[in-house]
Amino acid sequence: MNAGQRPGRRMVLGAAALGASAAVLGAAGPAGAAPARSREHGHSGRDGLPVPLIVGHRGASGYRPEHTLGSYQLALDMGADVIEQDLVPTKDGHLVCRHENDITATTDVADHPEFAGRKTTKTVDGDKLTGWFTEDFTLAELKTLRAKERIPGTRQHNTLYDGHWAIPTFEEVLQWAEREGRRRGRRIWLHIETKHPSYFRSLGLGLEERLARLLRAYGRHRKNAPNFLQSFEPGSIRRLGRLVDCPKVVLLGGLKDRPWDFTEAGDRRTVADLVSPRGLAWIADFAEGIGPDLSVIIPRDKDGRLGKPTSVVRDAHAAGLVLHPYTGRNENTFLPVDFRRGTDPAAYGDALGYYRACLATGIDGLFSDNPDTALLAAEEFRRR
Ligand code: G3P
Ligand code: CA
Repeated sequence: MNAGQRPGRRMVLGAAALGASAAVLGAAGPAGAAPARSREHGHSGRDGLPVPLIVGHRGASGYRPEHTLGSYQLALDMGADVIEQDLVPTKDGHLVCRHENDITATTDVADHPEFAGRKTTKTVDGDKLTGWFTEDFTLAELKTLRAKERIPGTRQHNTLYDGHWAIPTFEEVLQWAEREGRRRGRRIWLHIETKHPSYFRSLGLGLEERLARLLRAYGRHRKNAPNFLQSFEPGSIRRLGRLVDCPKVVLLGGLKDRPWDFTEAGDRRTVADLVSPRGLAWIADFAEGIGPDLSVIIPRDKDGRLGKPTSVVRDAHAAGLVLHPYTGRNENTFLPVDFRRGTDPAAYGDALGYYRACLATGIDGLFSDNPDTALLAAEEFRRR
């Protein structure tokens, strides 16, 4: 069953509404959460998106090696409303889907003796890393590698698929989305992130122009295109805004974090500053949403238990911004202490309960490695 077929879902305008008026999507949620504005007047057209929407984080990465066509396909088949891609470039300027340019943990590159000499140490966004990096490989070389599970100790089941898929290019994902869209009679929504944009620009491998070219080539550059564009660097979002009209989401880490482009520019503001009413108003000038770490929405206490929601949902909605926080995962090791079950860190805890608590804050969407579980909670919520 695809996303458009599930019954009883509150639907709202998608990207068109986001672009036309953030206020239309500005607020919703349960009684006691952020005050609802005009969300209830949304429509259920074929390109409508539900509220709250579920983003398949790196596909369905709780069940398949992340950022593979297999992971994206499973997320879509599970009913995820939007499928996420993280983008990095190759040496010859192609955009490929990887969470980071260091491909040591998510590919079999270490097993390729012909690439042993490419192992190197670099500093990326202030972090010293040793491994193999996409920008040192041509696309043809990268295509000889196979993807593998990032956290085999936690997700042993996923190692079943190690070696099954290659690294996809973003263009292959666009083609996949076209095929799936034709098959399902609707458009396939993507949530596309530029990774380390300042770093790659410094290497002459700017991401935004390459991304914009591909979006244009596939007719996904307009305001009502089924894409969200996201980045941890506000500068990348602003650059994208000059190139295409898609709705944009500024990603935010923990409260003490500072966007890397701010660090490079000597801008002292942190995430805590950016989620203040003043910071949110600044973001609303060039983006339609924020994607904060879930701890910004509901912090955990010193013992790791779930605390009380902050005012960020209300404040962001008041600024006309939607919220797509990250990342829900089913395993105990990722859950607040009071949602864990048993002592095995890799076993599933009360993920459904945690998703319910997150959605009750009035957020507009949620990234999850386990979109099927998150969807169960979202569908309950949509029926309220
Ligand atoms: O883009 C949303 C979420 O994916 C941000 O975190 O590090 O998993 O890309 P990350
Ligand atoms: Ca991401």
